Amino acid sequence: MDNDNPASPRHFLSLLDFSPRELRRLIERAIELKAMLGRGENYSPLSGRTLGMIFEKSSTRTRVSFEVGMTQLGGHALFLSSRDTQLGRGEPIEDSARVLSRMVDCIIIRTFQHETVERFANHSRVPVINALTDLLHPCQLLADMQTWFEHRGDISGRLVTWIGDGNNMCHSYINAARQFDFRLNIACPEGYEPDVAILEPAGERCRIIHDPVAAAEGADLIVTDVWASMGQEEEQARREEAFAGYQVNDAIMASAAKQALFMHCLPAHRGEEVSAAVIDGPQSIVWDEAENRLHAQKALLEILMGSWQA
Ligand code: CP
Ligand code: NVA
Repeated sequence: MDNDNPASPRHFLSLLDFSPRELRRLIERAIELKAMLGRGENYSPLSGRTLGMIFEKSSTRTRVSFEVGMTQLGGHALFLSSRDTQLGRGEPIEDSARVLSRMVDCIIIRTFQHETVERFANHSRVPVINALTDLLHPCQLLADMQTWFEHRGDISGRLVTWIGDGNNMCHSYINAARQFDFRLNIACPEGYEPDVAILEPAGERCRIIHDPVAAAEGADLIVTDVWASMGQEEEQARREEAFAGYQVNDAIMASAAKQALFMHCLPAHRGEEVSAAVIDGPQSIVWDEAENRLHAQKALLEILMGSWQA
């Protein structure tokens, strides 16, 4: 235990950090906050509070949704690129956590190794949010779940099919299957399976089915993501070859349930992991999904900064 961290605040590094009940309450609250915003209500519970946002990787949605979310809640957000801070020049992550958490009220971090976020959180006096690591992307799942609930109601007992890499998004879908009680088929090429340490605790509800059409059969929701994630750019050509049969296209959607929906965390590569016809077609809800990053994370900020109880 770090003696600089007397308060031991609550963090959100993984979906498993919240109980299933808290996650459902968070989604309900996100839907409520969205409606309040739509009615033009002014709601500023985080007035005078500051969110520090550390980015060691690129971002459009995550950065903008957290920054706008803080503004709407009456607070302020501070963008901290590792290029311009001492973090990028090698200041230890523990020291950065000690210093920043004496000034700001909450911190989000997007970085490479998941362990970096854990070390930061262990030395922070304020809540830390995982804004994407190589292992997990839990904030995206809050938005995805909100989007599903808005379009189709409860996801409990439904079948979701993940098509593509066993990456950070796939791992967070596995954790979501546990927390929201849905079944998850994962279609990935051999050698690109999710981490066993994340998959195994999910038990029977998550299955790896290498054939994407078979994996999609009867699914209520089809989800995919890029073939090469941030940090894997030099593997692009090799991955394009390995994932060639894993594009979400009309054949995949035809195998899914008639009313199936399509999600993608974005950014997307039309013609690679998804065809233009699917992502721009009637079953795609990717723009609602992107917008809901804002509402779901506002609910998360409220909970972690103590202005609303889940
Ligand atoms: N989906 C998502 O996290 O997008 P950004 O990389 O633009 O933040
Ligand atoms: N798997 C992708 C998600 C981007 C939001 C990546 O890590 O680059």
